[in-house]
Amino acid sequence: MSNVILIGYMGCGKSTVGIRLSYWLKQPFLDTDKLIEKKEKTTITEIFDTKGEAYFRQMETDCVKELLKEKGSYVIATGGGLAVREENRRLLGKLGTVVYLRIRPETVYERLKNDTGRPLLRTEDPLAKITSMIKERSPFYEECADVIIDVDDKSFEQILRQIVKNIRTLKKRRLT
Ligand code: S3P
Repeated sequence: MSNVILIGYMGCGKSTVGIRLSYWLKQPFLDTDKLIEKKEKTTITEIFDTKGEAYFRQMETDCVKELLKEKGSYVIATGGGLAVREENRRLLGKLGTVVYLRIRPETVYERLKNDTGRPLLRTEDPLAKITSMIKERSPFYEECADVIIDVDDKSFEQILRQIVKNIRTLKKRRLT
């Protein structure tokens, strides 16, 4: 099993980069948000609104546990809050190589200011919320990352190339 797992705050490009990376590595792409939506037969926003965030967070942990039972190798994009729970960070470490796509709050704001699919950003001052959430979450993302890529001001191609290069270096180091 040699999964590559993408973590990082909302809007950092986990899905967009993940899909391209999956072509590059010839490993199927999975997205924990999509797996949860499929299981619940509804959207993330609807889950937050009807069942609450705690329910959703438990679904994330269950989802990672399910993925650990998979035999194949995948590229896996995670929801932006998944790495916050300690148990999840431990499980992600077992699941594969963790790549953290680090992003500045201003970039997130620009990318998501017209987005309606992120329930946690339905607030008066989204930039302030994004800024404080990133500050709070950064240590968790950093703690479980094998590779950290700064994504601001980079094209998806540049990010992709940097990830592939870093993964190869890691593999070589692990083999020697
Ligand atoms: C969340 C991020 C979202 C989704 C949910 C909660 C978070 O995923 O899981 O809205 O807590 O940061 P994306 O990072 O794919 O937007």
